[in-house]
Amino acid sequence: MTFNMASLVYSVLIIFVMAHLIQGQGLQKGFYSKTCPKVEDIVKSSVQKAFNNDVTVAPGLLRLHFHDCFVQGCDASVLISGTSTERTAFANANLRGFEVIDDAKMQMETACPGVVSCADIVALAARDAVGLTGGPSWSVELGRRDGTVSSASDVSNLPAPTDSVAIQRKKFSDKGLTDQDLVTLVGAHTIGRTACQFVQYRLFNYTGTGNADPSISPSFLSQLQSLCPQNGDSSKRIPLDKGSENKFDVSYFKNLRDGNGVLESDQRLWSDSNTKSIVQNYAGTIRGLLGLRFDYEFPKSMVKMGAIGVKTGSQGEIRKICSQFN
Ligand SMILES: *[C@@H]1O[C@H](CO)[C@@H](O)[C@H](O)[C@H]1NC(C)=O
Repeated sequence: MTFNMASLVYSVLIIFVMAHLIQGQGLQKGFYSKTCPKVEDIVKSSVQKAFNNDVTVAPGLLRLHFHDCFVQGCDASVLISGTSTERTAFANANLRGFEVIDDAKMQMETACPGVVSCADIVALAARDAVGLTGGPSWSVELGRRDGTVSSASDVSNLPAPTDSVAIQRKKFSDKGLTDQDLVTLVGAHTIGRTACQFVQYRLFNYTGTGNADPSISPSFLSQLQSLCPQNGDSSKRIPLDKGSENKFDVSYFKNLRDGNGVLESDQRLWSDSNTKSIVQNYAGTIRGLLGLRFDYEFPKSMVKMGAIGVKTGSQGEIRKICSQFN
């Protein structure tokens, strides 16, 4: 009896400690409920306005949050303009959506000056962007502070389109993210585009073989070759999720299953047994089993990602202008 009681107390304690760790260091829902109750409405209207004008801003905003969190934690370090900041690094060359964050911040400084961090605006905008493209919604834990360091030399831990599964796994696990988080978060490629320069090398003479990457399905290969011809415009942009580039859905996983992945790093998720089973699960190919649902898992992984290396309390600062340190 005593033993059972002790182990029960112990288990409860472990669950409590783990729940606390998973929640992130001090982020909380409703962080601004007293100091800036309109925060979510303001971000939502800025995102909606930009989306009405150009639906492709949605993947841009989602990617902005991701690229922010992977480098120096989710602290808006990616927003700083100037020379040799993160934003100027090659891996961030095509980032977009900055003007949406700036617009929300400007309104925030009128409604509740000096209160809401740029890092929180980025996190909220990513959530709203997913919702607008038909994806799930979730409640965003807030209370991030803005960082005071932004250096182009720090971006090497961002995943790259040529990364093997082993390297992707390492980059994610370095941030406390599992294989399931990896596959789930890369599922963000259900919306958005990439440039031919990240695809062309797979299409004609992959690794010096004289042939295309054999993991590309034959019918998709000819489509890709005509979209991104050998000596064509390498900056031309093509959809990451064949046939469904503006809709947040599971077709991206079906495309990986069918050899229709656009980026090599994405298609590789089908070649590793562990990541493959997660892709299969989301693609709905495992019938009769109680599988994972992408719509349910994506918010969970986003909350985890959104807590990477966050600064809270008196750390960092609340920027006045998102592209400049105070
Ligand atoms: C493919 O690349 C290899 C190594 O760079 C080169 O030797 C070969 O000539 C190329 N083949 C074709 C068909 O271009």
